[in-house]
Amino acid sequence: MRHLLGIEGLRRADIEALLGRAEAHLHGGPDASHVLRGRVIANLFFEDSTRTRTSFEMAAHALGAEVLNWTTAGSSVSKGETLLDTVRNIEATGPVALIIRHRSSGAPHLVARHVRCAVINAGDGTHEHPSQALLDAFTLRRRWGSLDGRTVLIVGDILHSRVARSNLHCLTTLGAKVVLCGPPTLLPPGLESFGAEVCTNLDAALPRADAVMCLRVQSERQGENFFPSTREFSRMYGLNAARAERLKPEALVLHPGPMNRGVEIAPAVADGQRSVILEQVAHGVAVRRAILEEVCR
Ligand code: CP
Repeated sequence: MRHLLGIEGLRRADIEALLGRAEAHLHGGPDASHVLRGRVIANLFFEDSTRTRTSFEMAAHALGAEVLNWTTAGSSVSKGETLLDTVRNIEATGPVALIIRHRSSGAPHLVARHVRCAVINAGDGTHEHPSQALLDAFTLRRRWGSLDGRTVLIVGDILHSRVARSNLHCLTTLGAKVVLCGPPTLLPPGLESFGAEVCTNLDAALPRADAVMCLRVQSERQGENFFPSTREFSRMYGLNAARAERLKPEALVLHPGPMNRGVEIAPAVADGQRSVILEQVAHGVAVRRAILEEVCR
């Protein structure tokens, strides 16, 4: 694999190979500090991040690499330097991989056509967030053994969610059924053609789910006077303790973060017995080690 730009188009064997590789890196794994020793990985975050940036950094360090952490703040982007000029100049300093997060869908794909080093998509606009979907699938696979025949309910702001899109491709490729649920204004058309079931009634969907993934309402990508308001969303689609009672006893709760506590997920659910939210974060390091190892070979 030369780049990791998205999950769409990956074969089941590609995904399973990455998840298998991540398994070997779990809990520190064997010493892998020789794998990228002497190499540089560039973290290029044109958009903010806590989990993705730090776990890619930890993964690169564990493989022996140096990490260049670049963010828009303080850069020459403020003077009008373009995306391509920025990445070409950073590539000229010698990194073997560029990890890119950008608010524009397709930005990492554009970059990949103009650089020689590997490009990893760390989230592009509303398009894809492949490493997030891989760590989500990894978390579920470690709990269940296999995703075949399982039902994963993804709830909330599907329209603006790159996590939903990558998970839809990843989970269906691994044999799960994906149900996407949200208010009609936050459900883009055509999702069924990617194998998803689409619904608007959360209370009816919850009892069927083996896992439910709550998504953040991305207020920064919505205009003013958007329907539903935060309060309306919370009332109709928030996973609160009463709603969680409708789940199967063994059903799991996921959230990619950052959470709007009390909006899409209640604190009691986020921190409750079913929650694997911090497990997702922990697994992110092993999965990102596997990705770096794969694209930097
Ligand atoms: N899940 C996720 O992408 O989190 P960050 O925005 O903190 O990286």
